[in-house]
Amino acid sequence: MLADKRILLIIGGGIAAFKSLDLIRRLRDEGASVTPVLTSAAEEFVTPLSASALAAQKVYRDLFDLTDEAEMGHIELSRAADLLVVAPATADLMAKMAHGHANDLASTLLMATDKPVLIAPAMNVRMWEHPATQRNLETLKSDNVLVVGPDNGNMACGEFGPGRMAEVPDIVRAVDAALSDGPLTGKHVIVTSGPTHEPIDPVRYIANRSSGAQGTALAAALRDLGARVSFVTGPATVPPPAGVDVIAVETAAQMAEAVGRAHPADAAIFAAAVADWRVENASRSKMKKDGSGKAPALEFAENEDILAGVSAMGAGRPGLVVGFAAETDDVVAHASAKRLRKGCDWIVANDVSPATGIMGGTENRIVLISDDGAEEWPRLPKDEVARRLARRIADAIGGA
Ligand code: CTP
Repeated sequence: MLADKRILLIIGGGIAAFKSLDLIRRLRDEGASVTPVLTSAAEEFVTPLSASALAAQKVYRDLFDLTDEAEMGHIELSRAADLLVVAPATADLMAKMAHGHANDLASTLLMATDKPVLIAPAMNVRMWEHPATQRNLETLKSDNVLVVGPDNGNMACGEFGPGRMAEVPDIVRAVDAALSDGPLTGKHVIVTSGPTHEPIDPVRYIANRSSGAQGTALAAALRDLGARVSFVTGPATVPPPAGVDVIAVETAAQMAEAVGRAHPADAAIFAAAVADWRVENASRSKMKKDGSGKAPALEFAENEDILAGVSAMGAGRPGLVVGFAAETDDVVAHASAKRLRKGCDWIVANDVSPATGIMGGTENRIVLISDDGAEEWPRLPKDEVARRLARRIADAIGGA
């Protein structure tokens, strides 16, 4: 799948560097050629000899190696590749990239390149969650740097949480996506997915049964056609796809804010099951029974309608805005009215009555409603619905 692709792999100094040796092997299995670059900190974790042996290539190590400059200067090295991959991307490397430092070979290559860059962050959970790292991440994303991971899990430092480098197969998928040349290459698509959780107090919330399966499948299908996908997801039960920019949120308000920050986009697809209401008098501390037997009275406020807001944007509105409608009766009539009410271009409607087994199931039967009328699709696996929808989106906004 990666035949003839040239990857410059910058290995940063973290314990996850050992996985990068496996990454070299997997990328080569896919047909890519890999040129490794080791930071001096990386050499504390893996040896240049092992990287070179696995890549069957010379390893680059030091900016001021004059022999290398005579053979291939750092500018040329950074541009001879189709893609630069930074794995593991340490907090320090991310900070250097975000601030434009160029004081060693790795950071200089990253500054000098005119090619896409994909980073696989890996660091201690507190370093990942530190506001400085999160600020740097935002800066890098707005510079169009692609990000895969990090994953949640047990870390070498004994802590648990986000910070573990993405698994090698996920990084390979992200590399594939970054290099795929499909009809959506160069296009940016926002996809919302999953349910939202609306807190009642710090330990309780109101939710719905959405698994996020259809939104996830759609994000993966758009990625496969070459799109850069901003995947804004509530707490879904299915994991997000690799190779998309995952923005995890909990509440409808956070989802609205994340969507707002993800613009500009060529298309926005609203597959999330957003809670219509939030608890306005949510308690800051855990609510207790007071012994009176009286139930607490929850007061609700309506959440902002994210789909309607984006549909009504003036300048900067995505070229295509797609909503979803889960209905239990008069599907086409209700969904057609919803399309007009919300101002979106298309509505993907489905019948979620329990008898259909669609909600939480693996199949879906949709009606695509647009200016051209209502088009009924056969019952299909959710992945296939996603692939067909992605192709239709590509037809609507794609290039040639
Ligand atoms: N949606 C949204 N923001 C909200 C509510 C819904 O973006 N606050 C989006 C959903 O992602 C979906 C579409 O709007 O694409 C339809 O949502 P739905 O909840 O079915 O519509 P409602 O307006 O709530 O209509 P009703 O409750 O009458 O079915």
